[in-house]
Amino acid sequence: MKSIKQILNSSEYNKQISVNGWVRTKRMSKNVAFITLNDGSTINNIQIVVDADKIDFAILDKIHTGAALKITGELIKSQGKNQNVEISASKIHIYGEANPDEYPLQPKKHSLEFLREIAHLRFRTNLFGAITRIRHAMIFAVHDYFNKNGFYNIHTPIITGSDAEGAGEMFRVTTLPPKDAPVTEDGNTDFSKDFFGKETNLTVSGQLEAELAALALSKVYTFGPTFRAENSNTSRHLAEFWMIEPEIAFADINDDMNLAEGLLKYCVKYALDNCNDDLQFLTKRLINEEKNKPQNERSELNLIEKLEFILKNNFERLTYTEAIDILKNSKQNKKKKFKFPINEWGADLQSEHERYLVEKHFKKPVILTDYPKEIKAFYMKQNDDGKTVRAMDILFPGIGEIVGGSQREENYDKLYSRIKELNIPEKDMWWYLETRKFGTVPHAGFGLGFERLMLFVTGMTNIRDVIPFPRTPKNSEF
Ligand code: 4AD
Ligand code: MG
Repeated sequence: MKSIKQILNSSEYNKQISVNGWVRTKRMSKNVAFITLNDGSTINNIQIVVDADKIDFAILDKIHTGAALKITGELIKSQGKNQNVEISASKIHIYGEANPDEYPLQPKKHSLEFLREIAHLRFRTNLFGAITRIRHAMIFAVHDYFNKNGFYNIHTPIITGSDAEGAGEMFRVTTLPPKDAPVTEDGNTDFSKDFFGKETNLTVSGQLEAELAALALSKVYTFGPTFRAENSNTSRHLAEFWMIEPEIAFADINDDMNLAEGLLKYCVKYALDNCNDDLQFLTKRLINEEKNKPQNERSELNLIEKLEFILKNNFERLTYTEAIDILKNSKQNKKKKFKFPINEWGADLQSEHERYLVEKHFKKPVILTDYPKEIKAFYMKQNDDGKTVRAMDILFPGIGEIVGGSQREENYDKLYSRIKELNIPEKDMWWYLETRKFGTVPHAGFGLGFERLMLFVTGMTNIRDVIPFPRTPKNSEF
């Protein structure tokens, strides 16, 4: 059977066809009724014309928003101005009814908060249909980009025995009973009795394993779920999110920045080229939302224009030190408008600072490099100044940090001493260190938060709305 998307694009008039879908609206008059049907293949509905001469109107009493139907009928050129084709029904089959007194989704505007509470049904709204289709397109674009550029996809483990990265708090994985877990002589939980014979957690990143593969296959990427147990209830953080992590051998931080900029632009272009109907819908939605805002708070560019803007401009590249100077001397800082004032070199940047640089100062995406080593991970390549590392973060308008990456420390002695300085247990790191003993090469990589990319492409503002089933503190329903 053809999808509604296919039917809307076809011109096989006056032929019998069948179509499946869920009712979005029903309008009745005396002798004719109109049903709009959607099957999720496109944001557009197909209009079904129900004529009292052909169909017993009694069936219409059972058809309401949300019901699932199979319609058989003739495809005809539409007289209406909203669609090109419609179906004149000769037969209606009801798969499943939806009682209008109980069905929570009615053809009116629902708040995003309400829709989060009914995440099992929110796929059926225009908004979440559009987001879900774009999410699929972005997953595909990511794989397409790497495949076209000679990368190999690898699956890195989800359960990990090391907490070396320090990217965030971890979720423990255990089969020990919560009560009466075995204890060692000194009273701690005895993980040698646990499933893996040691403490294990859900991974915060696939990077360390991706590096192992890159040091043989040269260009690899992993695209998997990652888990962070931070108790941060922000609109940019999830406890379970998807991350794209490429790793390239024989490469430095400039290659890394070029790769990341290339990937982001490819994904945005892919969305513009392949998700036009959904992007048009999201753009109109945002324009409507902004009508409630005062004129000076409305954005200059609409969603589609913002996406086009990204393609046309190079990302601004500067060092952390240069950024700190800009921030320190900004009016915002002098007037004490930052929640975290910038007083000295070495401060970690908060999202208010990142957004100032991107949205107010440069008005385009920014790549910051060479951060103080104290605020970055142990594996980043140390600069000769002894103070900074070859980190690079990409900051996006409306989002803040979208990519975090670096050139990696490939020198065994330097890496080893950093591990010692930070008291990282060597027993967790022996395999990682060995790659620096045997055929080590300059290499680099980054992590792109997939849901942050989704926020940017859809113009949504809460990360809970760009993943089907968000996991956040106190929230694991569905
Ligand atoms: O900057 P992060 O922590 O970097 C790493 O994990 C490195 N191992 C990546 C690498 O070099 N291979 O995370 C990378 C990106 C962030 O820039 C952000 O986009 C996203 O992952 N991210 C989150 N997205 C949603 N919810 C969270 N809690 C996130 N934490 C990080
Ligand atoms: Mg980061």
